[in-house]
Amino acid sequence: MKILVTGGLGFIGSHTVVELQNEGFEVVVIDNLSNSSEDVLKGIEAITGKKPLFEKLDLRDKAAVQDFFKKHADVNGVIHFAASKAVGESVGNPLLYYENNISALVYILQELEKKENANFIFSSSCTVYGQAKTMPINEGSEVQPAMSPYGNTKQIGEEIITDVAKVSGINAILLRYFNPIGAHPSAEIGELPLGIPQNLVPFITQTGIGLRKELLVYGNDYPTPDGTCIRDYIHVVDLAKAHVVALQRLLNKKNQDKVETFNLGTGVGSSVLEVINAFEKVSGKKLAYRIVDRREGDVTLAYADTTKANDVLGWKTQSTLEQAMESAWKWEQKIRS
Ligand SMILES: NC(=O)c1ccc[n+]([C@@H]2O[C@H](COP(=O)([O-])OP(=O)(O)OC[C@H]3O[C@@H](n4cnc5c(N)ncnc54)[C@H](O)[C@@H]3O)[C@@H](O)[C@H]2O)c1
Repeated sequence: MKILVTGGLGFIGSHTVVELQNEGFEVVVIDNLSNSSEDVLKGIEAITGKKPLFEKLDLRDKAAVQDFFKKHADVNGVIHFAASKAVGESVGNPLLYYENNISALVYILQELEKKENANFIFSSSCTVYGQAKTMPINEGSEVQPAMSPYGNTKQIGEEIITDVAKVSGINAILLRYFNPIGAHPSAEIGELPLGIPQNLVPFITQTGIGLRKELLVYGNDYPTPDGTCIRDYIHVVDLAKAHVVALQRLLNKKNQDKVETFNLGTGVGSSVLEVINAFEKVSGKKLAYRIVDRREGDVTLAYADTTKANDVLGWKTQSTLEQAMESAWKWEQKIRS
């Protein structure tokens, strides 16, 4: 079984390539290296003993996408991670996001539409729920107007896939991630944020290693037990495994609808201060942090109802927050050594 993983050298993609190869799939990766490096292939090889096939191409190049599918006509499934993902950048440069996240998706679907049967997995996000009215958030929770062009690309992406699946042989699973963190326990692959990290955990580990002076905590006056925002932090290896399970569901034709949606989280909400505590516990370091004003666009509370993923996909997270923080810290130490 040959699986195409777009964005397969990125953070979540690389961990998914590892899990796919561990399960015996042949993997071909497409990446343009806009937010990753070819060295990731070595990390994947160090863990699995095998380098995936790699095609360096930009998915905005329609002709290149067409050529890829001619060359790899035997692809049985596609896991589509490739996208731009910086929320703030998307506000300043919306067309970059609409072009990269939407046109690439359209070009891939145009090729899959030509096949009698095709299996497609899409990286979506819990951002589609905005500030949900009730917790935990299940898949039936209302999708709210997007708060950024990035968020909008995920909503539009879901709609495009749903429309195309109705009139083609494409079966799809939309995976709405909560907050992926951590790294492979081997520390051979992990997250490589460019510039100032936008996400909490790389900001914490970069502060812990001395790359940043202090962590800024955006607001401690939210209506939560300690006043800081609450999120559902999921270990990236658990998240990667969910992709393999979802893919197997499509390949074995176990899906009940042409398009299915699953939340991927732990079901547990952790506050910013709890994440800091977990870091301090696993690293033995005191973290320098400062409380500042709230940041625009941050919701107070978001954690997943995992019942559907647990019962229907038969998948469950294995790692604790501390294990995830431990892996993130090990990775940070390795890349700075
Ligand atoms: N990390 C998160 O917090 C998070 C949360 C929810 C959803 N997601 C989604 O999951 C997916 C993967 O996220 P990630 O954190 O691994 O991001 P990442 O930036 O680490 O990985 C994305 C990869 O795609 C590649 N890429 C981007 N545009 C491309 C193009 N036009 N052609 C070919 N390759 C291209 C990049 O070089 C990178 O290697 C994205 O779709 C993202 O929006 C991520």
